[in-house]
Amino acid sequence: MFILAHQFAGVVELVDTLDLGSSAARCESSSLSARTTIFQYYFMSEENFIANNFTNLPDTSSYTWSSPSNIALIKYWGKNKNQTPKNTSISFTLSNSRTITTLELNKKSKADNNILFDVYYKDKKIDEFKPKIDLFFRNILKYCSYLKGYSFKINTANTFPHSSGIASSASGMSALALCIMSLEKDLNSTMKEEYFYKKASFLSRIGSGSACRSILGGINLWGKHADVEQSTDLYSIKYPYEIFKDFLDYNDTILLVDTEAKQVSSSDGHTLMKNHIYADKRYKIAQKNVIRLKSILKNGNLHSFTSLIEEEAMMLHALMMTSNPSYVLIKPNTLKIINSIKSYRETTKIPICFTLDAGANVHVLYPKEGEKKVELFIESELKEYCKNYSFISDKVGKGAVQL
Ligand code: PMV
Repeated sequence: MFILAHQFAGVVELVDTLDLGSSAARCESSSLSARTTIFQYYFMSEENFIANNFTNLPDTSSYTWSSPSNIALIKYWGKNKNQTPKNTSISFTLSNSRTITTLELNKKSKADNNILFDVYYKDKKIDEFKPKIDLFFRNILKYCSYLKGYSFKINTANTFPHSSGIASSASGMSALALCIMSLEKDLNSTMKEEYFYKKASFLSRIGSGSACRSILGGINLWGKHADVEQSTDLYSIKYPYEIFKDFLDYNDTILLVDTEAKQVSSSDGHTLMKNHIYADKRYKIAQKNVIRLKSILKNGNLHSFTSLIEEEAMMLHALMMTSNPSYVLIKPNTLKIINSIKSYRETTKIPICFTLDAGANVHVLYPKEGEKKVELFIESELKEYCKNYSFISDKVGKGAVQL
């Protein structure tokens, strides 16, 4: 009885912290049926994401979603066979770096396993993304068998430069997954908003692990953690604990040091963790860092935040440098920026810090308070290390939107 009450308290906390508008579950949280609904979405298993066999397929349809990129604070690096993570990760959802995708569907004369689709980037047909999208479709057919009834046209565009070295897989895969979920919602009008977003995150994860953290705004957490009750490897959840106000509109200026294609795909990078000498240690540290970040996000100690975030970024690159084969993805200008940020912080005491993805570009993180000074610093000292002096001004955002 006590356990049930305790679990229910956790459920209420989840519903209250989800930023999904006024869902039915939230409105009726005291009734038995609503409680059943909440439990249903709280304990989701893979089977819960297998769609019914719908017979009422429309002949044509079109859906458009704009979905943001995200930047990991606690990094996901190392995965299991089914693209579930080896450790919990936590990220800021971004605001301006987005992919806008339109999915047009045409009913086939006969449903089959043949996935027929064309991809357009800004209305121009391209084949570059086809293999990844084809694999994505094939991997999600089990959960979305209604897709067998259609051929598709995917028109996509990024708000950031195509060749900026910014990974578009998180924003791109989440935008596509959301379009697919809009179709599923049309086929199943009783679908609840909470299920919609959870399955969108679940499908995104199958496309590109970190993409599952791009659906909802603010801070998101993906991967089972013993101390985070509703955490799961299957999809990302909105960070369920108290967040100090500064983190709700944190800035992220992305310095574009290298705009070439990556030397090693993140998929190959994850694979290199399989026999990595430091793998076990890394996964343990990541779980501990989640707890460290939890207390920082609550108490707003920005100086502790800078230490933890930079440790995580450096650890990610240390893992790449010590894998077999090894990779050095940072460039001389990445190091110049890192050193410049450290000495600026030392001198001004402004809690600015850096983080890195699997590449040479630098994400400069800083709070709103004092942002004008940091912007001047970026303009006068860091911009010169960027390719063509280019950078992207971004910040924590509100998540994906349907257009
Ligand atoms: O989602 P993937 O497979 O592209 O991996 C992303 C890995 C990092 O960006 C380096 C870290 C993260 O958690 O986003």
